[in-house]
Amino acid sequence: MTDSVWLFGYGSLIWRPELPHRRAEPATIRGYERRFWQGSHDHRGWPHSPGRVVTLVPGTHCQGVAFEIDRLVWNTELERLDHREKNGYERIDLPIELAEGLSVDGVVYFAPEHNFAYLGDAPALEIAEQIASSEGPSGHNADYLFELAEALRQLDAHDAHVFELEQLVKQLKTS
Ligand code: SIN
Repeated sequence: MTDSVWLFGYGSLIWRPELPHRRAEPATIRGYERRFWQGSHDHRGWPHSPGRVVTLVPGTHCQGVAFEIDRLVWNTELERLDHREKNGYERIDLPIELAEGLSVDGVVYFAPEHNFAYLGDAPALEIAEQIASSEGPSGHNADYLFELAEALRQLDAHDAHVFELEQLVKQLKTS
């Protein structure tokens, strides 16, 4: 067993990991794409008015950030992390491609289709309206989207779904 764990973040974990790590670097996972298809009852919405946050669905690839975490730190932080991601996410093991082309065994929080908070696909404008009007204990749903879009730009990562929603929500907020 290695003395560290690699965690792949593709949503709030990119810009707010709140997790002590040895290093963080741009990374990619294959076979999945990021979508705002997961309901948020506990961070960006409420059970009676969920916001929308990201999960992974089958697709080509997803760019994000890989965090290398000391295994001892991981063991102490895991409970807190599982609590943070408790609204339908489960941990799965996936290979992560690091920037220099190296592949490492990694862990990803993934909200599978049909979990209790899953919302699934909808027209982009409908998703944008839900994001524009939702907020929860962690703040406005729109800020989650804007933080993510900005973090992806910093990474030079392209994600048509996220950038389209960002534009739509900005238009809704100014109209
Ligand atoms: C992640 O960031 O990797 C999982 C989804 C989230 O917490 O936004």
